[in-house]
Amino acid sequence: MKTNRQPGFATRAIHSGQEPDPLTGAVTVPIYPTSTYVQQGIGEHKGYEYSRVSNPTRTRLEQNLAALEDGIAARVFASGMAAINAIASMLQSGDHVVCGNDLYGGTPRLFNQVLAGFGLEFSYVDTSDAENVERAIRKNTRLVYIETPTNPLMRLSDIAAISRICRRRKVELVVDNTFMSPYFQQPIALGADMVVHSTTKFLNGHSDGLGGVVVCTKPAQAEKLAFLQKAAGAILSPFECWLVLRGVKTLAARMEIHDRSGRIVADFLASHKKVKQVFYPGLASHPQHALAKRQMSGFGSMITFETGSLKNANRMLKKVRVCSLGESLGGVETLISHPATMTHAALGEKGRKAIGITDGLVRISVGIEDVEDILADLDGALNEI
Ligand SMILES: Cc1ncc(COP(=O)(O)O)c(C=O)c1O
Repeated sequence: MKTNRQPGFATRAIHSGQEPDPLTGAVTVPIYPTSTYVQQGIGEHKGYEYSRVSNPTRTRLEQNLAALEDGIAARVFASGMAAINAIASMLQSGDHVVCGNDLYGGTPRLFNQVLAGFGLEFSYVDTSDAENVERAIRKNTRLVYIETPTNPLMRLSDIAAISRICRRRKVELVVDNTFMSPYFQQPIALGADMVVHSTTKFLNGHSDGLGGVVVCTKPAQAEKLAFLQKAAGAILSPFECWLVLRGVKTLAARMEIHDRSGRIVADFLASHKKVKQVFYPGLASHPQHALAKRQMSGFGSMITFETGSLKNANRMLKKVRVCSLGESLGGVETLISHPATMTHAALGEKGRKAIGITDGLVRISVGIEDVEDILADLDGALNEI
């Protein structure tokens, strides 16, 4: 049967860039652990010269991730932070960036403590109101940089509304799509110019490797980022590329379970007597639930909740057994963390207070274990409070 239908998401995750190896027919993309490539003569080669510049395993991963985010190309880096640093390295001294005020703590740490020293300027605004973005744009603004939902407060920004402002003001919009993955949110379809991920999280999905990606919509972006891979060298190794290629094959299946269990855990927490507040866009009580339904095709498994104090948070976190206390998110295992002392420690007490990150907040990345076991574990731990 002939059809013009585009392959669906799960099919692209398994097959885009992951075609059988032409040499052997291997269904799995080979790992090419090589630093260099034999050349046939001066300037004569098979497309690969040196692995900082390009590597066949990396090429396949970049093709795959571009297909999943519907971009024209993707460039992978050694970590999510290396990918974000590459985006900032496309700017010049004197350029200005408007950022969300509730980003992953490592991002403002890079911006304020490293890049501001090289003459880049950053303003932080509450991007959940698109008008704040418009007001913050200056003559020298080159980028608007947002995360939606935010980490850890699960505030949403309206990607389509912000992208309209960016287009009108001739500023590029970058969206960190780590929390939702391309399975539940497609920023490029909503008008974003570039999408960034920590592949360390849902794209890899197995908590066994760090990585980052920038997905581009314009050839100039892809060229500049390829140049930065070559010039600065913060590339992803062939083995780590392979881990993401392996992990991403099950992204659709994993995200379905993450989402189903995420909703169950959020409902459970919302009705638990020891929990004071739950931040999850899938709850009807979330102030931006309507936007969540419009902009995302699922709600995912990132949930933050208020235990009331550092003491309460510590009491419960010491008791969890199925949930693993640790930084990071997006793995098959349920990971639970304490934003004030972990992901957002770099903001300092004042910085955290300004955006509403309290010492009692706990963040959970619901994994794909049996959800009854996750609920029993959380119930036992919460009842220690
Ligand atoms: C939303 C988000 N973006 C970026 C990063 C940075 O990624 P990496 O740890 O891979 O450098 C993280 C890390 O937790 C994150 O949560």
